[in-house]
Amino acid sequence: MNTEPQAVRYHERGKPEEVLTLEPMPVGQPGPGEALVALRAAVIHPSDMGMIGGTYGRLPDLPAVAGREGVGEVLAVGAGVSGLEPGQQVKMPEAPGAWMQAVVVPAESLIRIPNNVPVEMAAQAFINPPTALRILRDFIDFKPGEWIIQNAANSAVGISLIQLARHCGLKTINIVRDVATWEPILKEMGADVVVAEDSGFEKNIKELTGGAKPRLGLNSIGGESVIRIIRCLADQGKVVTFGGMVGDKVRFPTRNLIFNDVCLCGFWMDRWVRTHDQAEFEAMQAEIYDLMAEGALKLPIDSRYPFDKALDAVARANAGGRKGKVLILSDWKG
Ligand SMILES: NC(=O)c1ccc[n+]([C@@H]2O[C@H](COP(=O)([O-])OP(=O)(O)OC[C@H]3O[C@@H](n4cnc5c(N)ncnc54)[C@H](OP(=O)(O)O)[C@@H]3O)[C@@H](O)[C@H]2O)c1
Repeated sequence: MNTEPQAVRYHERGKPEEVLTLEPMPVGQPGPGEALVALRAAVIHPSDMGMIGGTYGRLPDLPAVAGREGVGEVLAVGAGVSGLEPGQQVKMPEAPGAWMQAVVVPAESLIRIPNNVPVEMAAQAFINPPTALRILRDFIDFKPGEWIIQNAANSAVGISLIQLARHCGLKTINIVRDVATWEPILKEMGADVVVAEDSGFEKNIKELTGGAKPRLGLNSIGGESVIRIIRCLADQGKVVTFGGMVGDKVRFPTRNLIFNDVCLCGFWMDRWVRTHDQAEFEAMQAEIYDLMAEGALKLPIDSRYPFDKALDAVARANAGGRKGKVLILSDWKG
């Protein structure tokens, strides 16, 4: 049996189906101060494609291991490492790339995830739920029972926001493309209202909420979709753009800018992490781990692929009609 660990790598930027390859990536034993970490589950994000394609806000040097997020298990630690035991669940180190079956890194660089967080949730605890949490906390000083509106509500950020908003006593209007599929699923998770993109909901927003207008809108699509959100907002409401799934420019309807003083803001989790201290980061992550461990924050999984089928997993992640995230699993033990 081949026990050499593999990695998903790219030597030039481009379309994932053209540039990604599965390659052997040998690891040694951990030296002093180091730990050997084995991947258990990695998650595939739209931003992974931006990194592979060269359009993301920060790019690794080439050749690179693909992937930003996953969970690993410490298999062994080198001399002088204390407080980190084999079996500990940790975030896959992001800088070397997450889609590799094993890596040796400085033990002190590892981020521990409590072992009571289910592995498939731990694999996606660092990008989408924190993005939803920060946008919920940092833009509007809410009163209980206020409304939030978001597009791509069936995305991992959207589903995180639905559950976090419910947890905080806030209500959500959720815009999706496939309302028949997603309305029952999102309502089960705590969504108050689910509407279809092109249903004209923006003309009846007060009927949907019982009279209120949302003060916060989340946009990860762009184009016409964000214009609909802007039209729904209360005076001095804010639209936070954090993704651009259609690639269209975010255009602002002038009358909502002048007569409603609606404000357009942006958010990037990477910048938040770089500009906040370790204690704030750990406190935020602890909240996410607790919610995941108690089952109050759950993200649906579309499909799971073994590591040797990682390229099929990427193809599935880029196909339409997913019902959650695609995971790449690995049970490599050396
Ligand atoms: N700025 C940040 O810090 C930050 C952090 C996290 C995520 N993001 C961004 O947030 C977005 C969502 O990420 P995610 O990981 O939560 O996504 P995800 O779970 O992979 O879901 C993708 C979402 O995009 C929708 N979508 C895809 N193509 C679309 C199109 N052409 N028109 C309309 N909707 C489309 C999908 O709707 P269907 O199901 O209908 O296809 C789905 O709701 C991405 O753009 C991501 O890069 C940004």
